Amino acid sequence: MRQIPLISSFRIFLAGFAGITVLFSCKSSLPSEPVSHEIITGKYVPADSQVVVSARAEATRAGVMILRKGGNAFDAAVAVHFALAVCYPQAGNIGGGGFLLARKSDGTYVALDFRETAPAASTENMFRDERDQVIPKLSTLGALASGVPGSVAGILEMHEKYGSLPLDILLQSAIDLAIHGYVLTALDTMELYKVGRELQTRNSYVAFWPSGGVLPGDTIRQPDLARTLQRIAQYGKKEFYEGLTADLLVQCMQRHGGIITREDLQNYRPVWREPLFADAFGYRFVSMPPPSSGGIALLQMLKMAEMVRLDTLPHLGTAYISRVVELEKRAYADRAFYLGDPAFVQVPVQELLSDVYLAQRLVNYTGVPLPSAVLSHGKASFPESEQTTHYCIADRFGNVVNITTTLNSPYGSCLLVNGAGFLLNNEMDDFSAKPGVPNQFGLVGNKANAVAPGKRMLSSMTPTIVEKDGKVSLAVGTPGGATIITSVFQICLDVEVFGLPLYESVQLPRFHHQWLPDKIWVEDGHFHPDTLAILEKMGYTIQPRSPIGRVEAISWTSGGIMEGVADERGDDAAGR
Ligand code: DON
Repeated sequence: MRQIPLISSFRIFLAGFAGITVLFSCKSSLPSEPVSHEIITGKYVPADSQVVVSARAEATRAGVMILRKGGNAFDAAVAVHFALAVCYPQAGNIGGGGFLLARKSDGTYVALDFRETAPAASTENMFRDERDQVIPKLSTLGALASGVPGSVAGILEMHEKYGSLPLDILLQSAIDLAIHGYVLTALDTMELYKVGRELQTRNSYVAFWPSGGVLPGDTIRQPDLARTLQRIAQYGKKEFYEGLTADLLVQCMQRHGGIITREDLQNYRPVWREPLFADAFGYRFVSMPPPSSGGIALLQMLKMAEMVRLDTLPHLGTAYISRVVELEKRAYADRAFYLGDPAFVQVPVQELLSDVYLAQRLVNYTGVPLPSAVLSHGKASFPESEQTTHYCIADRFGNVVNITTTLNSPYGSCLLVNGAGFLLNNEMDDFSAKPGVPNQFGLVGNKANAVAPGKRMLSSMTPTIVEKDGKVSLAVGTPGGATIITSVFQICLDVEVFGLPLYESVQLPRFHHQWLPDKIWVEDGHFHPDTLAILEKMGYTIQPRSPIGRVEAISWTSGGIMEGVADERGDDAAGR
């Protein structure tokens, strides 16, 4: 199990409301901005005009190079996205999907949904056997696990609308990385060994998993992927959805018992959506609407946090953790009941975010834990009628681009499109295979998130931007499946409500509750045993686990300096 590295030699014991609270490592002083024309990358990168943060230094550099060539944040996002598809096959992708939330230089927001869709031949019970039992792994591994990929359509749609440099320039770094190779880190190697057998048995050739295995320091070259990227650079999204890549993808489906057809690919469209807004603690929080559940759940929790005066409690004390957990349970219970693709189910968005509704959700909050078994979703009336990755970029024009993208599990379905060199997602597992039966993240759902042809599966991805008095203050997002929403919630609280520096906030230990199962997951070894003992005495079940999320974020100081921060939990890097 990977532990969060200690950054300095001293550990701080935070004294909380009910006693000692967390063990965490803290950087004693942050480096000052070095004077250099070289691309600077690191976990903490202050910048005065532009910054990029992503899961890999190679992708971060690709984005910075575009900004230096005069491109804007949207251009840089194209470069970062395709570079991640090469050097971070765990989650970077062209065979997956994602969400964009951007704040344009004029202060307005746009949201683009390029989430995968269920193929036309999919059915509500396609992951169940004749006795109506969910078939293990069918929605997570192999060809049936994949939704119709949305990333290429989404990223190129964003580029058409807001980009300024030509595609061939933007994809060059990715193509170079695919041809000349990227170097495996120790973490890459570890993650590859976890899925090595699946990759080997499902594919005839995997460039990043050669026979004999891999070692840190190996250089991975991906000639098939390089050719696919060259075709996309030359012919645009039509190539992926109707050209040779589409042919290869459909052949792959036919060989492996999948159901994605040429028509599914041709019919795929990204959707521009209205971002969600909520005010709390004097800030304006902006996040992703359905089919993400992230925006609704995050904004519900932030508004309820203000109602229960979370800011009056000692940060990360046991009373604080308990109060946060009680809010999380309520939001996730609503998620399971109400949320799904708005093209298929009515989601009472405004009601779920209204003060009256949220106050009602808190009626049974008396300061003591309420077991999940007796806590259900609220009563909203309908109006008539451990892989993902996040990257964020701020440019000198004032644009902020914030994208979470995913194949779902690490390496998605473990199925590569033979000859095209890219992995397909296993996003179908984000549907509810059967009401009440948990998916791989332990999330339960119901009718609202049942499989249906053309439908988008519910997501937890939560790209979020915060502003104060009309000025941007924070851009944040993370992978982590069900924990995405609570990690973003914690960062918003730490930075905006408790005034902690972004670097410290990102490296602080995280905890998570998702209503069902009724337990608090805590990052193993990072909470003080006394804290956990007190929470257990209060009636909570504590479940230690591996690191939660890999947050990428940018904050703006009142002096106008940007701080790009990458999570110490991974190989992530900020750069300028
Ligand atoms: O969209 C979702 O909510 C999931 N497919 C995200 C998966 C994820 O974050 C896995 N990473 N650890």
